[in-house]
Amino acid sequence: MPVAYQNQVFTLSGGNVSYVLHVTEDRKLMNLYWGRRVPDHAVQPELSDYQSFASFDPPASRLPSELPVLGQGWYGTPAVDVLNAQGDHVVDLRVTGYRILPGKKGLPGLPAVYSEKNDEARSLEIDLADPLTGLSVTLQYAVYAESGAVTRSMRITNAGQDPVTLRGALAVSVPLWGADYDVLHLKGAWARERALVRTPLGQGAYEIGSQRGASGHEENPFLALCGKQAGENSGDVWGVSFVYSGSFLAEASADNAGNARLYMGMNPQVFSWLLQPGESFQTPEAVLVYSCSGLNGMSRIYHRLYRTRLARGAWRDRPRPVLINNWEGTYFDFDEEKLFRIARAGKELGIELFVMDDGWFGRRNSDNCSLGDWTANPEKLPRGLAGLSERIHGLDMLFGIWMEPEMVSPDSDLYRAHPDWCLHVPGRARTEERNQLILDLSRKEVRETVTEAVSAVLRESRADYLKWDMNRNMTEYFSPVLPPERRMETQHRYMLGLYEILEEITRRFPDVLFESCSGGGGRFDPGLLYYMPQAWTSDNTDAIARLGIQYGTSLVYPASAMGAHVSAVPNHQCRRTTSMQMRGDVALCGGGFGFELDVTALPDEDKKEARAIIARAKELRGLVQEGTFWRLLPPSGAGYAAWQFVREDGKQALLCVYRILSEANTPPVRVKMAGLDPEGAYRDESGKLYSGAALMYRGFSVSIPGDFGSCMILLEKVPQPFPLPDNGRR
Ligand code: DGJ
Repeated sequence: MPVAYQNQVFTLSGGNVSYVLHVTEDRKLMNLYWGRRVPDHAVQPELSDYQSFASFDPPASRLPSELPVLGQGWYGTPAVDVLNAQGDHVVDLRVTGYRILPGKKGLPGLPAVYSEKNDEARSLEIDLADPLTGLSVTLQYAVYAESGAVTRSMRITNAGQDPVTLRGALAVSVPLWGADYDVLHLKGAWARERALVRTPLGQGAYEIGSQRGASGHEENPFLALCGKQAGENSGDVWGVSFVYSGSFLAEASADNAGNARLYMGMNPQVFSWLLQPGESFQTPEAVLVYSCSGLNGMSRIYHRLYRTRLARGAWRDRPRPVLINNWEGTYFDFDEEKLFRIARAGKELGIELFVMDDGWFGRRNSDNCSLGDWTANPEKLPRGLAGLSERIHGLDMLFGIWMEPEMVSPDSDLYRAHPDWCLHVPGRARTEERNQLILDLSRKEVRETVTEAVSAVLRESRADYLKWDMNRNMTEYFSPVLPPERRMETQHRYMLGLYEILEEITRRFPDVLFESCSGGGGRFDPGLLYYMPQAWTSDNTDAIARLGIQYGTSLVYPASAMGAHVSAVPNHQCRRTTSMQMRGDVALCGGGFGFELDVTALPDEDKKEARAIIARAKELRGLVQEGTFWRLLPPSGAGYAAWQFVREDGKQALLCVYRILSEANTPPVRVKMAGLDPEGAYRDESGKLYSGAALMYRGFSVSIPGDFGSCMILLEKVPQPFPLPDNGRR
């Protein structure tokens, strides 16, 4: 049973995972266990779970509470922090009821994973209430039968008589027994997103987060603990990923008794929420994934869940078109003829979608004006959006367009008409970043204007694809139309406003392929994946830098979500020169594969190679988008990096090996493959036959001469087991 209940103990089970909760005699909710699967009812409370040992601290500071709150001796970050009407923060939540429900529902107004069939997942709601203030909390869980992924969120309701202010709300705060763990997270910066950090957890708190009003380049809304011995394919890992695109707080802590805890939720630095009597606050959802087969095991669960039960829409399962984007090819310097020539040259190479990036609207010839004025610049596009789109469609290509709908340039007609429509504090300077301000999406009239502007562009251009960009973070995050006691709600109200717009736009244009972007990968998070199945991974298109960025991104996100392009050399971000083959072999491992250069200027030799890469990408895209991904060798320093895809039916595997810097007098690298059938036989494209067991346990020997090289080995599974009776001859 995915959710079993007996003797005050709830056991949520799926895949190889169990999550066990206990309602104590005094109706408090405790977490007994989250880890490798145990039989239903196997974990029961023991006296020692709740026994206080002689110490200076009150028992609550040590209890494995599922919902730790302030006031009775909990000194860590509270899961619910409320400023009560009488000025204190004390909360005492006791269980009042529960419901077990089929399937997994969405969350109103928020992105969330979902189920398509009722037997895929089971939900549990547990109600708690504070008898003195009337505050009530419903904890919302679901467990996925196949993977054991557990979702958790909560709805906090003021069922009392007086207003209260929510100062903190975590989607999850889960205790783990013992503290001998490493912390894992994905740090970064613009053009250096999502590098894996692994560091020991010590007594105290290890905190990451964002206050920027976006998940950000700096930290991804993901945090994990793993056993000291855990590696890519073995050991215990507990991951928490937040389905949210705004500011967040994530923390791993170890207490003085040697127990750990993982937290994820709203960032109290930039959040508070007034709850009038009868009002509720819904937290976004966290997705908890436990794996007993290492980091790859955790990633596989996230990949499948996020690819198939977070992403939505017509393009979720469709092969993504190979695209050409003009940004690095032209920047702002283009007109219809130039774009058409690029598209036509791309078409000749086999490209299927042409994307017109920034610079087509208003008077925008640099980044200093026109955001908000979403009408085509007649000097660049004399026949408007429709004219260019018609010509591109005439090439039998799809047409895509770039917009940055959440922003306004101070030098724009929109700003001149509505200078109060941006986030700002009256009387203070409005901090500009990239010469732009952020529209106040907490305001209905602003949301309606943005929705209509995007709709008009999509209609006029008959676009098949939209790149939704966002190029700055929040500074004065206040909405002047909110009363002062609600101003700290602005950041979250903005996110709710953005999600409302995205829900409406994706509803109106169900056939458009949406790609999110934020100065590259500054908002590459599960929240946006709910609306847009792919995201621009990074503005850094250098193949070597991309190895690290795509490797780190793969910790949580599926390849199907990663936009990855072949760009010109020397690379514009790193000034590095790599071969066309290397650039192609890295980029085609992203589901949003494409080119981003002026193809008309490519020498014939490069065109020939590009044509071959595009043909290869089309042949492999099913495997890349839907296959199981394995990290094999990390791209750290010199030497080799490797990863691999295996088709879900096991019939095909793609081994991708990359050489970073060459070293003299070194042997070939032996890459141990993963996820193959050890009894099976596999044939490479030259006809050579291999045993699955040998490929996995002994490894595949690869030697790539010189710096910055790559090698892709495609293996087909042969129907008979290894060895074949005729020794594999064909
Ligand atoms: C940032 C994006 O990441 C780039 O790809 C490009 O679209 C620019 N914005 C355009 O301003």
